[in-house]
Amino acid sequence: MSNYHIKHLEEYYQVYRKSVRNPEQFWDEIAEEHFVWRKKWDNVLSWDFTKPEVKWFENAKLNITENCLDRHLPTRGDKTAIIFEPNDPKEQAQHITYSQLHARVCKFANVLKDKGIKKGDRVCIYLPMIPELAISVLACARIGAIHSVVFAGFSATALSTRINDCDAKMVITSDGSYRGSKTIDLKGIVDEALEDCPNIDSVLVAKRINSKISMKDGRDHWLQPLLEDAHQDFTAEVMDAEDALFILYTSGSTGKPKGMVHSSAGYMVYTAYTFKNVFQYKEDDIYWCTADIGWITGHSYIVYGPLANGATTVMFEGVPSYPDFGRFWDIVQKHKVNQFYTAPTAIRALAKQGTEYVDKHDLSSLKVLGTVGEPINEEAWHWYNENIGKKKSPIVDTWWQTETGGIMITPIPFSTPTKPTYATLPFIGIQPALMDENGDEIKGNQVEGRLCIKYPWPGIARTIWGDHQRYKDTYFSAYKNMYFTGDGAMRDEVGYYRITGRVDDVIIVSGHNLGTAPIEDAINEHQAVAESAIVGFPHDVKGSALYGYITLKDSGESRNHDNLRKEINQLITDRIGPIAKLDKIQFTNGLPKTRSGKIMRRILRKIASNETDKLGDTSTLLNPEVVQRIIDEKL
Ligand code: WT7
Repeated sequence: MSNYHIKHLEEYYQVYRKSVRNPEQFWDEIAEEHFVWRKKWDNVLSWDFTKPEVKWFENAKLNITENCLDRHLPTRGDKTAIIFEPNDPKEQAQHITYSQLHARVCKFANVLKDKGIKKGDRVCIYLPMIPELAISVLACARIGAIHSVVFAGFSATALSTRINDCDAKMVITSDGSYRGSKTIDLKGIVDEALEDCPNIDSVLVAKRINSKISMKDGRDHWLQPLLEDAHQDFTAEVMDAEDALFILYTSGSTGKPKGMVHSSAGYMVYTAYTFKNVFQYKEDDIYWCTADIGWITGHSYIVYGPLANGATTVMFEGVPSYPDFGRFWDIVQKHKVNQFYTAPTAIRALAKQGTEYVDKHDLSSLKVLGTVGEPINEEAWHWYNENIGKKKSPIVDTWWQTETGGIMITPIPFSTPTKPTYATLPFIGIQPALMDENGDEIKGNQVEGRLCIKYPWPGIARTIWGDHQRYKDTYFSAYKNMYFTGDGAMRDEVGYYRITGRVDDVIIVSGHNLGTAPIEDAINEHQAVAESAIVGFPHDVKGSALYGYITLKDSGESRNHDNLRKEINQLITDRIGPIAKLDKIQFTNGLPKTRSGKIMRRILRKIASNETDKLGDTSTLLNPEVVQRIIDEKL
C-alpha cells in the first residue's frame, strides 16, 4: 500500500487513521519519499496555536522549483507541462514542455536578478492568464523572492494597496489583456496604481495585445528582449522550509485585505499530495483547472500541485462565454481533458444555456470533475453530474480556503461515495471539529456548528504579512486551541460534512471572497452618502449577489437616484474592481441599529432575501420603526 496514492475507501480510512494517530510519522514519510531536498529536516512539526506558531520540516532546505521542474527533466523533459489555451480559439494553443518551462523560468530568474531582486524581496505580479504568469511565479520561487500575485481584474487602488502593504520592489505586468471580445489596459492600471507606490523600482512588461502604452524611462522595461538575452540556467536559491514562498491577499470582514503568507516546504508537500489524490492524476492525464492564478486555487492547483507531480496542466486565458457558451467543452474536447476543476458559479452560468452546447462536444475523456469556491447547490450538482460527467465521473466538491493552502474536505474520487452538496470527508491529516456557541465541541453525527480544525496540516498559512496579531485574532481567538475557518457546517449521519456558508461578514459572489467593510468604505467616499450596509442575497448564477442599503446625507435629496447608483458602482469599481459592484441599491432613511449603534445586518440580510417572516424580535432595536419602512420600500 502506498500512502501517497489512495485507491479505495478502505485505504482512505486506513491512511486517514494513520495520519491522525501519528501525524509526524505520516508526513515525514510522505515528505521523504516524494520530494527532493537539499537537506532533510531535524524535526517534522512543532506547533502552538496559542501563539500561534506552526513549523513543518524544520531546518530542511529546498527549492520548490527543483521539485516542480528540475527533478522531472531526466524522465519528463519532453512531456508537456503547460498547455496554454488563448482567449481567441483561432490563435494556436501552446504546449510548453518541462525542459522548455525550466529554461524559461531560469531565464526569467536571471532577469529578476539583473534587476536587483534578491531572496526575500517582494515582487507583485499583475498579469493575465498567459504563460508569463506561471513562469514569473516560478522564477520568483527559484530566486527566493516572495511573489504576491494580484488578480488582474482588481482596480488600481486595490493594486496599490496590495503593493504597499508588502512593500514590493517590482511589478510584473503586460501591455494589456484579452477578456472575451474586450481588451483591458493593464499597463494603464499599473501606471495609475504606481502613483501611490513610491518604493517600486522597476516594472517588467510582457507584450500580449500589442497596444500602444507609455513606458516610464528608467522604471519600465519590456520583458521579451531581456528574456532573449538571459542565460537559460539558474541555480536555484536554497530556501529554508519555513521561508515564505508567497503572499496572497484575501478579504476579511473588516479592514484592509489580509496578506496570507505561505511557507516553502509545508505548502509544497500539501499541495502536491492533495493534487495527486483529489484528482487521481495518472501520468498521461491532461488536467485543467479553470481558475485564475490570481487566486489560491490557481497557485495550488494550476501551478504548484500539478507541476510537483509532473502533470500536464492547462492554462486558459479566456472566459466560458467566448466566443460562445461552448468554449469550456470545446477545450475539453480539443485537449482531451481528463480532470476538470471549476466553480459552482460557472456551472450555473453554463447550465442556464441548456445542453445545446454540451451536446455538440465529445466529453468522453473526462474522468474526474471538481468544484470549489462556494457551496454547490443541488440543481447545479445534478446538472454537472448528468450532462458533463454523464453520471460516470465522480464530482469532488472540495472545501478549502486561501488560508489553508490546499484542499481540506473532499471526496477521493472512485473511493468516497459522493452526495450532492456535501464536501464529504476530511482529507488525510485533517481533523475538523464543529463548535457550538459556548465554545464547546459538538461531538457525534447529525449536528451543525462552526467549522474549526484541531490540528495543524502542512499547508496552513503561517501568518498575515506584517500583522501577526491579526492572524491570531482572526483565526485562533474564537475557539481555544483551534483554527477557526469562518464557515458553518453540518455533519450527517455517516460523518459527511456539508458546508453551509460563511458565518461572518464575508460574502462569496461568483466564488470571489468579498468583505463588506472595504465595499462600504468605497461607497461612503461618495459625498452624498451618509452611511451604508452591504449584505448578500441569493442569486441564481452568482450564488450570492450584493445588496446595498444606503442613507444619504440630505434625505430630501432631489438628485436622480439612477445616476447616483451608477456613481456608487463606479466608485466601487475604482476602489476594488467590477466584481464588487452592487446588484441592488436601496436608498433608505435609516439603518436598523442596536442600542450600542451597531448596524443589524442580520435583519437587512433577511429583508434582501425576502424572508421578512423570519426577522425575529426587532423591538429591542434603537430604531425599530425603520425596519417596516425598509420592507415597504424594498426594490
Ligand atoms: C471560502 C474561502 C479555496 C479556493 C477558493 C476560495 C468557501 C470554498 C467551498 C466548497 C462550500 C466553499 C468557504 C471558504 N468555499 N470552497 N467546496 N463548499 N464553500 O478561496 O477565496 O479563500 O474562500 O470559500 O466559505 O471559507 P477563498
